[in-house]
Amino acid sequence: MRILITGGSGFIGQALCPVLLDQGHQVMVVSRRPQRAAKHLPHDVEFRASVAECVDFQPEVIINLAGEPIANRRWSEARKAELLESRVRTTDALVALAKTLDQKPKVLISGSAVGFYGDCGSETVTEDSEPGTGFAHELCAQWEAAARQATPYVDRLCVIRIGLVLDQPGGLLDRMVPPFRMGLGGRMGSGKQCMPWIHRQDMVRIIDWLINHPSADGVFNASAPNPVDNATFSKALARHLNRPAMFPAPSWVLKTAFGEMSELMLEGACMVPQKLLDAGFDFIYPELDQALADIVER
Ligand SMILES: NC(=O)c1ccc[n+]([C@@H]2O[C@H](COP(=O)([O-])OP(=O)(O)OC[C@H]3O[C@@H](n4cnc5c(N)ncnc54)[C@H](OP(=O)(O)O)[C@@H]3O)[C@@H](O)[C@H]2O)c1
Repeated sequence: MRILITGGSGFIGQALCPVLLDQGHQVMVVSRRPQRAAKHLPHDVEFRASVAECVDFQPEVIINLAGEPIANRRWSEARKAELLESRVRTTDALVALAKTLDQKPKVLISGSAVGFYGDCGSETVTEDSEPGTGFAHELCAQWEAAARQATPYVDRLCVIRIGLVLDQPGGLLDRMVPPFRMGLGGRMGSGKQCMPWIHRQDMVRIIDWLINHPSADGVFNASAPNPVDNATFSKALARHLNRPAMFPAPSWVLKTAFGEMSELMLEGACMVPQKLLDAGFDFIYPELDQALADIVER
């Protein structure tokens, strides 16, 4: 199939593209800097600098992952606008593209995140749970609303509310592992906030599964079935690195250092992938210990 991926040069895309190519698909990545992106992707990947330039490709599947990195800089009002704009603008462009295609794409798989649910304490959250509040929620809600505009122009729309994707190099662990390796790791705030994580290999398998299951439609939580709280995550990471987890980062320190962005560290939702579990999706890494053993001890 002809598969178009926005943000395909990123952490998830770098693992996804080789898998799709191995299956014999034609993969086109939209990237603002195709030459730089090409260094991170197999040479069979084709590139376009904008969604509007992809009409001749006539994609049968569209995967929408593009967006400014959410945790790179403090959330000033200008930064929040960039985070939002980068996602909504790209999604709007995909809707416009889908309208012009000769045939409806079989599926649009569009990104979102656990942040949609806001801060839910220890309550288990499924696709049916009510959304929360906060900027992460607002960002995801607007991103999802933009994707819903594609509904008349695609056979299926799957929105993936992605958990914390684990692998190395890259992603969350690139930030967490160095201090933990130095023995300076520990829980953040109370440590009770939930961290719905997922091994990058399972993340790629979920996208592949959604492409290949014509009955899959709507919102899917994309995280492992066994989320843990931050204290448990910190202890597990330290154990796999053979280090102690003795240095908690108090909430006030994180709030002072990161401002509003500290909600990413201090809040969470105990998200479970109920729809994938009900449909019989088989996770290779359902437990955090299995995932960390594979990634950190690799
Ligand atoms: N990784 C996670 O743990 C996680 C968790 C929840 C949600 N998500 C979401 O899932 C998506 C993919 O995740 P990822 O980790 O692969 O992200 P990533 O590594 O940050 O890559 C996202 C890609 O988006 C493109 N991009 C960045 N800024 C852009 C802008 N202003 N306009 C258009 N495109 C832009 C970049 O491609 P070019 O530079 O090539 O244009 C980049 O490679 C992201 O939107 C992310 O927010 C990720």
